Amino acid sequence: MSKVTVAKSAGFCFGVDRAVKMVYGELENNTRVATLGPIIHNQDVVNDMNEKGARIIESVSELEPDETVVIRSHGVGRKIYEEIAEKGNKMLDATCPFVARIHKIVAEKTAEGYFILIAGDKNHPEVQGIVGHCDENYQVFKDVFELNAFFEKEYKKIKKKLAIVAQTTYNIVVWSECINSIPKDDENIVIFDTICNATEARQSDAAELAKGSDIMLVVGGRHSSNTVKLYEVCSRYCKTYHIENSEELKHLQLPESERIGITAGASTPAYIIKEVESKMAENINLANQDEEFDFAQAIDESFKKIHTGEKVKATVVAVNNTEVIVDLGTKHTGYVSLDDLTDDPSKKPSDIVSVGDEIDLVVIKVNDAEGTAALSKRKVDEQAGFEKIVKASEEGTVLEGIVQHVVNKGITLTAFGVRVFIPASLTGLPRGAELEQLLKKKVEFQVIEVTEGRKRAVGSIKAVQAAKRAEAVAKFWETAEVGATYTGKVKSLTSFGAFVDLGGIDGMVHISELSWKRIKHPSEVVSVGDTLEVYIKELDKEANRISLGYKKTEDDPWVIFQSQYEVGSTAKATIVSTTTFGAFAQIIDGIDGLIHISQISTEKVENVKDVLSVGQEVDVKIVDIDTDSKRISLSMRALLEDDADETAEDAE
Ligand code: F3S
Repeated sequence: MSKVTVAKSAGFCFGVDRAVKMVYGELENNTRVATLGPIIHNQDVVNDMNEKGARIIESVSELEPDETVVIRSHGVGRKIYEEIAEKGNKMLDATCPFVARIHKIVAEKTAEGYFILIAGDKNHPEVQGIVGHCDENYQVFKDVFELNAFFEKEYKKIKKKLAIVAQTTYNIVVWSECINSIPKDDENIVIFDTICNATEARQSDAAELAKGSDIMLVVGGRHSSNTVKLYEVCSRYCKTYHIENSEELKHLQLPESERIGITAGASTPAYIIKEVESKMAENINLANQDEEFDFAQAIDESFKKIHTGEKVKATVVAVNNTEVIVDLGTKHTGYVSLDDLTDDPSKKPSDIVSVGDEIDLVVIKVNDAEGTAALSKRKVDEQAGFEKIVKASEEGTVLEGIVQHVVNKGITLTAFGVRVFIPASLTGLPRGAELEQLLKKKVEFQVIEVTEGRKRAVGSIKAVQAAKRAEAVAKFWETAEVGATYTGKVKSLTSFGAFVDLGGIDGMVHISELSWKRIKHPSEVVSVGDTLEVYIKELDKEANRISLGYKKTEDDPWVIFQSQYEVGSTAKATIVSTTTFGAFAQIIDGIDGLIHISQISTEKVENVKDVLSVGQEVDVKIVDIDTDSKRISLSMRALLEDDADETAEDAE
């Protein structure tokens, strides 16, 4: 069986499609409708609308009191709106949003004192509408020659800043020539690219489809230049047929084909495309298709209905700086404002979606009279995000987020699009600490409470920290053993030692373990916050008590002394104290030896203080080292005797 595929952007462009739907929507209410100019260049559709109660008028003065006036996709100038308001008729504004954007730009820039340059055809209704939002300070140019002439003759005279826009259907090639000839680096000139790419997109979608098809059917008027252009484009890739409607299929001798592609010109209504598609797909008897066709019903049937609160899928058809326009496949034009697109103020719509994307949305407001629907992606994201938050809360998952605000009594951040409040007491900071220090910081938290109805969540950083600590403690006890070394931070000092945080668990270094020298308080050696290399001296797993050692063997003065001195060595020593039986002298830092009173001199000493005083430097001989009791005996006398012996020997 053959596969029939319709090109993504076949037929009406978004703006015309919207306008046609708005007219039929109004006619459904049995209202009389007057369109300001033909709504579309397709006589069949215009006739059908006419039969259902719509007529074409050229000016507001022709309006009858009970008629609803429809402004077509080309848009109109400000004056026309005023005239309609004065008449008091109901109005449906089907101005294409791309055209409305140009109106907004020129009106704003005019108010700011700019002169407006418009690239386009001055007789085209769209350009006349744009001009109608400009006051008198504007000029229309049709090509690069007229633009250059403006810069040569007019620009200096007007003495105003310039804002340049283009008709939505302006030729892209000519537009780029114009951009290139505009004086560069002139900060008084701003250019807005306002060209709509609907025609270009229709052609490239058709070419793409033709490349993968055996035959292509191009549906549209014989004299429609954009349909003929589509025919030319498709013919490059496969056998292509140009038909005006499904009736003409009867007269075609189509070859057996597996892949049939269909595209259509800008004025071909959706129902004609659908008709061609279904006839091709179902291979129905074309001879029996003479019944009268109801345009409105055909269009209506192809549309879904939408309701506020409903979740819908939509295709992005346009993205500008403030909103996204979507095709809902309904009579409505869908709008998603930037606020409803994301909660991230740093993002633009184009950072989030692109033309052609299919996205999930929630309908937040439907306006049948205007044929518009406001939608929200943010609500969909929030719902999906909230489900993730609920799951994370149930499973105790640790989440990450950047702290966004400091609020009353806490901080807030966003996770999965949901606002999470973390009370100050659960931030993990000490009571009274400045919460601002967490701003813009990435934190780990757990969700501890969710309020389903209000889509709110409460988080705790402290819970994560406590869990980490518990994990670290469990791991510590698993591996802890006497002799194991750790790097820890001094948390507090007391008179008997220093408490050291080993990563969730504290151990104590006794004062005697802090230094080889005798000290009066741990603060002589360490301060709170210092990082220490410690080792476990004793471990009481039952009582969770850990005694730590800090002194290193290589720093032990006794070890240093033994590596430098032995019995018989001589040294310079400093007297540190005197007693009745002798004097203590320091050999190296932390090591004292005793010079017994009998070892001070070769002569008898009655009173130590008569010979030695504290601070005095003396030469000594090491006469004994008692390793067990760490006692050292020194002698000054031994040195004096050695000297005497040497003198005697020299004399012999
Ligand atoms: Fe159509 Fe609007 Fe573009 S009317 S061609 S979608 S500007």
